[in-house]
Amino acid sequence: MIHILFFIVQIFLMIVFSMMIVLLAFWSIGNFKNRVPFVTASNAVLKDISKALEVKDNSIVYDLGCGDGRILMYLSRLYPKAKYIGVENNIFPLLLARAESFLNYKKIGNKIEIINNDFFKQDLSNATHIFTYLYPNIMDKLLPKFEKEFKPGTRLVSLSFKFASKNPIEEIDLKRSKYKLGRKLYVYQF
Ligand SMILES: C[S@@+](CC[C@H](N)C(=O)[O-])C[C@H]1O[C@@H](n2cnc3c(N)ncnc32)[C@H](O)[C@@H]1O
Repeated sequence: MIHILFFIVQIFLMIVFSMMIVLLAFWSIGNFKNRVPFVTASNAVLKDISKALEVKDNSIVYDLGCGDGRILMYLSRLYPKAKYIGVENNIFPLLLARAESFLNYKKIGNKIEIINNDFFKQDLSNATHIFTYLYPNIMDKLLPKFEKEFKPGTRLVSLSFKFASKNPIEEIDLKRSKYKLGRKLYVYQF
């Protein structure tokens, strides 16, 4: 009997281990492809992001490279009438975001759309609010697209990184330790 139990535990551990290897492979491939790794914004700054974004009932909010979708989940609980769209093209965070979005929908009935797409190819012309936590070079590459597609008044909040050639209307110091990521928010109005 003990042998059978031992065998079952071994098989179970092997399955868990293999799944972890597969997820790690997805994560690494996605990070390599995008050159922006899947690193989530700290829960400690969600409140500041929400304040800086100024979401309204009729807002259409995008998180470009939404990771596990935590920012949109947080916002959707505060402002359930707004529309939320996450764009992500790395399979590992994409699956996490879709699972969380499903649970969120079951719990509070608010649907968050998670789109599997490269944000460079995503039509953003209906956006009123955008959140980004990317890299400076990616921000600069995205700027011409933003300037072409955004409606006048679209508000963009970027965690940590700013555009080289556009000034923010506000710079918010999150007063986090210098050893922590995500210490500033840059607010832009297009
Ligand atoms: C630093 S993480 C930020 C995650 C989330 N926005 C947050 O703050 O918690 C950047 C995310 O952007 C995604 N990403 C990078 N380049 C992308 C692209 N071209 N299209 C879609 N997603 C991309 C990455 O896979 C990663 O999940």
